[in-house]
Amino acid sequence: MNFLVTGGAGFIGSAVCRHLCANPAYRVTNLDKLTYAGNLASLRQIENAHNYSFAQADICDERAVLDLLRRHDIDIVMNLAAESHVDRSIDGPGAFIETNIVGTYRILNAALEYWRGLSDDRKSRFRFHHVSTDEVFGDLPFDGGMFVEETPYAPSSPYSASKAASDHLVRAWHETYGLPVVLSNCSNNYGPYHFPEKLIPLVIL
Ligand SMILES: NC(=O)c1ccc[n+]([C@@H]2O[C@H](COP(=O)([O-])OP(=O)(O)OC[C@H]3O[C@@H](n4cnc5c(N)ncnc54)[C@H](O)[C@@H]3O)[C@@H](O)[C@H]2O)c1
Repeated sequence: MNFLVTGGAGFIGSAVCRHLCANPAYRVTNLDKLTYAGNLASLRQIENAHNYSFAQADICDERAVLDLLRRHDIDIVMNLAAESHVDRSIDGPGAFIETNIVGTYRILNAALEYWRGLSDDRKSRFRFHHVSTDEVFGDLPFDGGMFVEETPYAPSSPYSASKAASDHLVRAWHETYGLPVVLSNCSNNYGPYHFPEKLIPLVIL
Protein backbone atom coordinates (compact mmCIF):
# COMPACT_ATOMS: atom_id res chain seq x y z
CA MET A 1 0.00 0.00 0.00
CA ASN A 2 1.32 3.44 -0.96
CA PHE A 3 0.92 6.43 1.35
CA LEU A 4 1.34 10.14 0.73
CA VAL A 5 1.89 11.83 4.09
CA THR A 6 1.81 15.63 3.98
CA GLY A 7 3.52 17.53 6.77
CA GLY A 8 5.64 14.46 7.38
CA ALA A 9 8.56 16.51 8.70
CA GLY A 10 6.38 17.91 11.47
CA PHE A 11 5.85 16.51 14.94
CA ILE A 12 2.95 14.11 14.30
CA GLY A 13 3.69 13.56 10.60
CA SER A 14 7.23 12.36 11.32
CA ALA A 15 5.86 9.87 13.87
CA VAL A 16 3.36 8.66 11.26
CA CYS A 17 6.16 8.22 8.69
CA ARG A 18 8.38 6.36 11.16
CA HIS A 19 5.47 4.12 12.12
CA LEU A 20 4.36 3.35 8.56
CA CYS A 21 7.90 2.67 7.31
CA ALA A 22 8.28 -0.07 9.92
CA ASN A 23 5.92 -2.12 7.74
CA PRO A 24 7.87 -3.31 4.67
CA ALA A 25 4.59 -3.72 2.75
CA TYR A 26 4.03 0.05 2.89
CA ARG A 27 5.69 2.71 0.74
CA VAL A 28 5.69 6.20 2.18
CA THR A 29 6.11 9.48 0.33
CA ASN A 30 6.53 12.46 2.60
CA LEU A 31 5.51 15.82 1.10
CA ASP A 32 6.57 18.77 3.23
CA LYS A 33 7.28 22.45 2.55
CA LEU A 34 9.78 22.55 5.43
CA THR A 35 8.51 25.63 7.23
CA TYR A 36 10.05 26.55 10.60
CA ALA A 37 8.06 23.58 12.01
CA GLY A 38 9.54 20.96 9.67
CA ASN A 39 12.55 19.08 10.96
CA LEU A 40 14.20 16.41 8.83
CA ALA A 41 16.23 15.25 11.86
CA SER A 42 12.99 13.64 13.12
CA LEU A 43 13.20 11.31 10.11
CA ARG A 44 16.86 10.22 10.46
CA GLN A 45 15.93 6.65 11.37
CA ILE A 46 14.05 6.13 8.08
CA GLU A 47 15.74 8.57 5.67
CA ASN A 48 17.56 5.74 3.86
CA ALA A 49 14.78 3.16 4.16
CA HIS A 50 13.87 1.42 0.88
CA ASN A 51 10.19 2.27 1.37
CA TYR A 52 10.59 5.99 2.17
CA SER A 53 11.01 9.08 0.00
CA PHE A 54 10.86 12.80 0.65
CA ALA A 55 9.63 15.63 -1.59
CA GLN A 56 9.92 19.26 -0.62
CA ALA A 57 6.68 20.81 -1.89
CA ASP A 58 3.74 22.96 -0.88
CA ILE A 59 0.23 21.53 -0.58
CA CYS A 60 -0.95 24.75 -2.27
CA ASP A 61 0.87 23.56 -5.43
CA GLU A 62 -1.86 21.41 -6.96
CA ARG A 63 0.28 20.25 -9.91
CA ALA A 64 3.13 19.14 -7.65
CA VAL A 65 0.70 17.17 -5.47
CA LEU A 66 -0.96 15.54 -8.49
CA ASP A 67 2.43 14.63 -9.90
CA LEU A 68 3.43 12.90 -6.64
CA LEU A 69 0.09 11.07 -6.43
CA ARG A 70 0.60 9.67 -9.93
CA ARG A 71 4.34 9.03 -9.69
CA HIS A 72 4.02 7.05 -6.45
CA ASP A 73 0.70 5.33 -7.26
CA ILE A 74 -0.83 6.53 -4.00
CA ASP A 75 -3.60 4.58 -2.24
CA ILE A 76 -3.90 6.68 0.93
CA VAL A 77 -3.36 10.40 1.46
CA MET A 78 -2.81 11.50 5.05
CA ASN A 79 -3.03 15.28 5.14
CA LEU A 80 -1.20 16.59 8.19
CA ALA A 81 0.45 19.63 6.61
CA ALA A 82 -0.76 22.74 8.41
CA GLU A 83 0.17 25.85 10.23
CA SER A 84 -0.54 24.49 13.67
CA HIS A 85 0.30 26.94 16.45
CA VAL A 86 -2.60 28.93 17.96
CA ASP A 87 -0.51 31.87 19.21
CA ARG A 88 1.15 32.32 15.83
CA SER A 89 -2.31 32.39 14.21
CA ILE A 90 -3.23 35.34 16.43
CA ASP A 91 -0.09 37.25 15.46
CA GLY A 92 -0.28 36.42 11.74
CA PRO A 93 -3.39 34.62 10.44
CA GLY A 94 -2.45 34.93 6.74
CA ALA A 95 -0.28 31.80 6.55
CA PHE A 96 -3.06 29.84 8.30
CA ILE A 97 -5.64 30.89 5.71
CA GLU A 98 -3.19 30.07 2.92
CA THR A 99 -2.02 26.61 4.03
CA ASN A 100 -4.94 25.34 6.09
CA ILE A 101 -7.80 26.54 3.88
CA VAL A 102 -6.40 27.20 0.38
CA GLY A 103 -3.88 24.35 0.73
CA THR A 104 -6.60 21.88 1.74
CA TYR A 105 -8.71 23.04 -1.20
CA ARG A 106 -5.80 22.49 -3.59
CA ILE A 107 -4.85 19.07 -2.29
CA LEU A 108 -8.50 17.99 -2.40
CA ASN A 109 -8.66 19.07 -6.05
CA ALA A 110 -5.48 17.15 -6.86
CA ALA A 111 -6.77 14.07 -4.99
CA LEU A 112 -10.10 14.23 -6.81
CA GLU A 113 -8.48 14.45 -10.24
CA TYR A 114 -6.18 11.54 -9.36
CA TRP A 115 -8.99 9.46 -7.82
CA ARG A 116 -11.23 9.89 -10.87
CA GLY A 117 -8.54 8.30 -13.03
CA LEU A 118 -8.19 5.13 -10.91
CA SER A 119 -9.70 1.74 -11.70
CA ASP A 120 -12.97 0.93 -9.88
CA ASP A 121 -11.18 -1.40 -7.50
CA ARG A 122 -8.51 1.14 -6.55
CA LYS A 123 -11.12 3.90 -6.41
CA SER A 124 -13.03 2.00 -3.74
CA ARG A 125 -9.88 1.44 -1.66
CA PHE A 126 -8.55 5.02 -1.92
CA ARG A 127 -8.85 7.24 1.18
CA PHE A 128 -8.14 10.90 1.84
CA HIS A 129 -7.50 11.21 5.58
CA HIS A 130 -7.63 14.77 6.83
CA VAL A 131 -6.08 15.28 10.25
CA SER A 132 -7.87 18.01 12.11
CA THR A 133 -8.16 19.15 15.69
CA ASP A 134 -10.64 19.09 18.55
CA GLU A 135 -10.16 22.88 18.72
CA VAL A 136 -12.78 23.24 15.97
CA PHE A 137 -15.35 22.46 18.70
CA GLY A 138 -14.30 25.43 20.84
CA ASP A 139 -13.43 25.35 24.54
CA LEU A 140 -14.52 22.97 27.30
CA PRO A 141 -15.41 24.26 30.77
CA PHE A 142 -12.68 23.80 33.41
CA ASP A 143 -14.94 21.51 35.48
CA GLY A 144 -15.27 18.81 32.83
CA GLY A 145 -17.43 18.07 29.83
CA MET A 146 -16.54 16.22 26.68
CA PHE A 147 -16.64 16.75 22.97
CA VAL A 148 -18.74 14.12 21.18
CA GLU A 149 -19.34 13.49 17.50
CA GLU A 150 -22.50 15.64 17.57
CA THR A 151 -20.75 18.64 19.17
CA PRO A 152 -21.30 21.66 16.91
CA TYR A 153 -18.36 23.53 15.42
CA ALA A 154 -17.44 26.63 17.46
CA PRO A 155 -13.86 27.62 16.57
CA SER A 156 -12.46 30.47 18.62
CA SER A 157 -9.03 31.34 17.11
CA PRO A 158 -7.78 31.98 13.58
CA TYR A 159 -6.06 28.55 13.79
CA SER A 160 -9.20 26.65 14.76
CA ALA A 161 -11.34 28.65 12.30
CA SER A 162 -8.94 27.73 9.49
CA LYS A 163 -9.02 24.05 10.50
CA ALA A 164 -12.83 24.16 10.74
CA ALA A 165 -12.98 25.61 7.23
CA SER A 166 -10.71 22.82 5.97
CA ASP A 167 -12.94 20.19 7.63
CA HIS A 168 -15.99 21.60 5.84
CA LEU A 169 -14.14 21.49 2.52
CA VAL A 170 -13.18 17.85 3.11
CA ARG A 171 -16.76 16.97 3.98
CA ALA A 172 -18.00 18.85 0.89
CA TRP A 173 -15.58 17.03 -1.44
CA HIS A 174 -17.05 13.78 -0.12
CA GLU A 175 -20.72 14.82 -0.29
CA THR A 176 -20.44 16.65 -3.62
CA TYR A 177 -17.90 14.62 -5.58
CA GLY A 178 -17.85 11.28 -3.73
CA LEU A 179 -14.16 11.45 -2.77
CA PRO A 180 -13.66 8.81 -0.02
CA VAL A 181 -12.54 10.75 3.04
CA VAL A 182 -11.77 10.16 6.69
CA LEU A 183 -11.80 13.15 9.02
CA SER A 184 -10.30 12.89 12.50
CA ASN A 185 -10.27 15.54 15.23
CA CYS A 186 -7.59 14.58 17.71
CA SER A 187 -6.78 16.35 20.96
CA ASN A 188 -3.32 17.42 22.20
CA ASN A 189 -0.52 15.08 21.17
CA TYR A 190 2.86 15.10 22.87
CA GLY A 191 6.06 13.09 22.74
CA PRO A 192 9.54 12.80 21.20
CA TYR A 193 10.57 15.46 18.62
CA HIS A 194 7.89 17.91 19.79
CA PHE A 195 8.62 21.55 18.86
CA PRO A 196 8.94 23.37 22.20
CA GLU A 197 6.49 26.18 21.33
CA LYS A 198 3.55 23.85 22.04
CA LEU A 199 1.81 23.82 25.43
CA ILE A 200 2.91 20.46 26.86
CA PRO A 201 6.67 20.64 26.04
CA LEU A 202 6.64 24.34 26.94
CA VAL A 203 5.19 23.64 30.39
CA ILE A 204 7.53 20.67 30.95
CA LEU A 205 10.57 22.74 29.95
N1 LIG B 1 0.09 18.67 17.74
C1 LIG B 1 -1.12 18.46 18.21
O1 LIG B 1 -1.29 18.24 19.42
C2 LIG B 1 -2.32 18.46 17.29
C3 LIG B 1 -3.59 18.30 17.85
C4 LIG B 1 -4.68 18.23 16.99
C5 LIG B 1 -4.51 18.33 15.62
N2 LIG B 1 -3.26 18.52 15.10
C6 LIG B 1 -3.13 18.59 13.64
O2 LIG B 1 -2.22 17.58 13.25
C7 LIG B 1 -1.46 18.02 12.13
C8 LIG B 1 0.02 17.91 12.44
O3 LIG B 1 0.30 18.68 13.61
P1 LIG B 1 1.78 18.85 14.14
O4 LIG B 1 1.70 19.24 15.57
O5 LIG B 1 2.60 17.67 13.75
O6 LIG B 1 2.23 20.14 13.29
P2 LIG B 1 3.68 20.70 13.03
O7 LIG B 1 3.53 22.19 13.04
O8 LIG B 1 4.70 20.07 13.93
O9 LIG B 1 4.02 20.19 11.54
C9 LIG B 1 3.40 20.73 10.41
C10 LIG B 1 4.22 20.31 9.21
O10 LIG B 1 3.56 20.80 8.03
C11 LIG B 1 4.51 21.38 7.15
N3 LIG B 1 3.82 22.40 6.34
C12 LIG B 1 3.33 23.60 6.76
N4 LIG B 1 2.76 24.23 5.73
C13 LIG B 1 2.90 23.43 4.64
C14 LIG B 1 2.50 23.54 3.28
N5 LIG B 1 1.86 24.62 2.82
N6 LIG B 1 2.78 22.51 2.44
C15 LIG B 1 3.45 21.41 2.88
N7 LIG B 1 3.86 21.27 4.16
C16 LIG B 1 3.59 22.26 5.03
C17 LIG B 1 5.56 21.97 8.07
O11 LIG B 1 6.81 22.16 7.40
C18 LIG B 1 5.64 20.92 9.18
O12 LIG B 1 6.58 19.92 8.86
C19 LIG B 1 -1.91 19.45 11.83
O13 LIG B 1 -2.84 19.41 10.77
C20 LIG B 1 -2.57 19.91 13.11
O14 LIG B 1 -3.59 20.85 12.85
C21 LIG B 1 -2.17 18.59 15.90
